[in-house]
Amino acid sequence: MRQLEGKVAVITGAGVIEPVSEQDTLNIGAATALLYGRQGARVVIADLQQDMVDRTLNLLRREGHECVGCLSDITSFARCQALVEASIQAFGRLDILQNNAGAGWLGEGTILAYNEALFDLNFSVNVKGLFNMTAAAAPAMAQTGGGAIVNISSVVAERHQLFPQLMYYNVSKAAVNAATKAFAHELAPKGIRVNAIMPGSVRTVSNVQSALIEAGEEGMAARERLWSTIPLGRPADPMDVAQASLFLASAAASYVTGQILAVDGGVLC
Ligand SMILES: NC(=O)c1ccc[n+]([C@@H]2O[C@H](COP(=O)([O-])OP(=O)(O)OC[C@H]3O[C@@H](n4cnc5c(N)ncnc54)[C@H](O)[C@@H]3O)[C@@H](O)[C@H]2O)c1
Repeated sequence: MRQLEGKVAVITGAGVIEPVSEQDTLNIGAATALLYGRQGARVVIADLQQDMVDRTLNLLRREGHECVGCLSDITSFARCQALVEASIQAFGRLDILQNNAGAGWLGEGTILAYNEALFDLNFSVNVKGLFNMTAAAAPAMAQTGGGAIVNISSVVAERHQLFPQLMYYNVSKAAVNAATKAFAHELAPKGIRVNAIMPGSVRTVSNVQSALIEAGEEGMAARERLWSTIPLGRPADPMDVAQASLFLASAAASYVTGQILAVDGGVLC
């Protein structure tokens, strides 16, 4: 029995950029879409750009999974409502919301080196986007008796000193954790469970590409050195995060809500 048979899932940030290597082709959202499709869900792939959405749609369709794409910018509540409407138009319902889209980890900004534009990017996508999508999706989920929401946070929410130069990103992810508990409390009577995952370092296509853009082969070597310090000795594969999400989205977690799960190879130990 597949774990998400009959369910409909919306995944934000599920598009994927053009891979730079044959080894690294997925990000967290695309891996989650693929796994949810394999587990029987019909999936709505949402992202900012059509070519990114199409890449993930192709991955799922190649395996025969039912899916549709939708261009969406989660910083706009109206666009989030349109995304939920697209899910209902395509599949008649919405059971799972994966708040995966995120931004802001490429820039640097702190209090003494203040960067207002970077602050706005982090908080408009990671925090306002999370509120927009959840507010748009919850009424539709409640109408059919409930559902599951999985928010993608980060270990830096709890360990700022890992990357202090990413202050706004770290604090925005701490807000994701706090919002997860607040949403879980409000939505429990509607049958909607809300949980979050804190990934550590994940070997995504965008992570590899940004290392190469920053400093070419040396950038990649620096990443490899960082990854070798992780207690389990390797970065997460995007599927490691997707598998944990599947647990939280599925009936196996039917009594779990308001929880923040680290999927980090032991970084927070
Ligand atoms: N890769 C890691 O090591 C890592 C670690 C911890 C947490 N995370 C989190 O995992 C999530 C997925 O990141 P990823 O690593 O797969 O990176 P990614 O950049 O490949 O994926 C993020 C996606 O979000 C989309 N997005 C950005 N702004 C958006 C907006 N306004 N509206 C809609 N979509 C938007 C991007 O286009 C992109 O496809 C993010 O929330 C990120 O913060 C990643």
